[in-house]
Amino acid sequence: MRALILSGGAGTRLRPFTYTGAKQLVPVANKPILFYVIENIVAAGISEIGIVIAPETGDEVKSRVGDGSRWNVNIEYFLQEKPLGLAHAVMVARDYLIDGPFLMYLGDNLIGSRITKEVEDFKDNQELSASIFLKPVSNPRAFGVAVTDESGRVIDLIEKPEKPPSNLALVGIYLFRPMIFEAISNIKPSRRGELEITDAISWLIKNGYKVQSHVVESWWLDTGKKDDLLLANDIVMDEWLQTDIRGSVDSGSRITGRVVVGENAKIEESIVRGPAVIGEGAHLFKAIIGPFTAIGAGVRIERSTVEHCVIMEDCVIQDVPRLEHSVLGRRVYVRPAPRNQESLCLMVGDDCVVEIGRK
Ligand code: G1P
Repeated sequence: MRALILSGGAGTRLRPFTYTGAKQLVPVANKPILFYVIENIVAAGISEIGIVIAPETGDEVKSRVGDGSRWNVNIEYFLQEKPLGLAHAVMVARDYLIDGPFLMYLGDNLIGSRITKEVEDFKDNQELSASIFLKPVSNPRAFGVAVTDESGRVIDLIEKPEKPPSNLALVGIYLFRPMIFEAISNIKPSRRGELEITDAISWLIKNGYKVQSHVVESWWLDTGKKDDLLLANDIVMDEWLQTDIRGSVDSGSRITGRVVVGENAKIEESIVRGPAVIGEGAHLFKAIIGPFTAIGAGVRIERSTVEHCVIMEDCVIQDVPRLEHSVLGRRVYVRPAPRNQESLCLMVGDDCVVEIGRK
């Protein structure tokens, strides 16, 4: 069985980070979301993976992910020239997928469980033409929404409904047999001008094909906004982080709880409270870090306290009494204003948010 990961899309909800990078490469506990997706596919026993990329971010995705040898699998890339929808993206990889059942996985989706059993069941159950993963949510209008019978068979599906018929959202993981291509060629673009995979599955149902569903029991994270990203980091660190100290920690430093310290990182006269991740080559000096904090590779933090933050690669934080609940993109500087202690001196790009402490 093959898998297809969709890794295009503009990532508007994750701006400003997605101005300069793919949303699927935004890090959670210092690892791109897309890598968790690949690991979950590999854990399900699949070793042939296609990735659909967009012209804007495709090269970055290719250079980070490579040919799959890091996971012992084969990875091929398919360019979707324009963002014409998830079903259109599947069509782009038609020749790669046409010969048998396949798994489709949206590259910005993070779930807390394996999908091995569902993949095996689908392979064995020839009468199923599709199988989808669902999760109850409080805001179904933001997703594709399903109605199922008591056996889990899907009887209706609708994309971003104004009046949701249930609270069961489509998690971006799907299993298909090749008749999905016939379905896609029979649908029309939606109101947002895209060929929706939800409409293609709906076509299958209306034409008498059997579509099954599974409700995801674990967490599902849609890394849409700053707080979602922090929450994704919290959960992944809380559940999956294992202590692994490779860099150097001097005798004046203290590390408590589960902490990862990458190669060539240097921790001096600092306190790190786990769960926390310190990236490769990062340098902490008289810093207090964590808990629930991811410090990217090459970051320098001096005389500062950083708690519950995601600090991406090569940032510098100096003499900041307390930074919390923050997400910093790459190469951001946070330091005292040069002249007046009371002043706030900013150089921030588009769509950034600055929240100032109040007395
Ligand atoms: C897409 C699908 C939607 C699904 C969601 C999951 O929405 O169209 O059915 O519920 O992914 O993340 P989009 O992210 O394109 O708005």
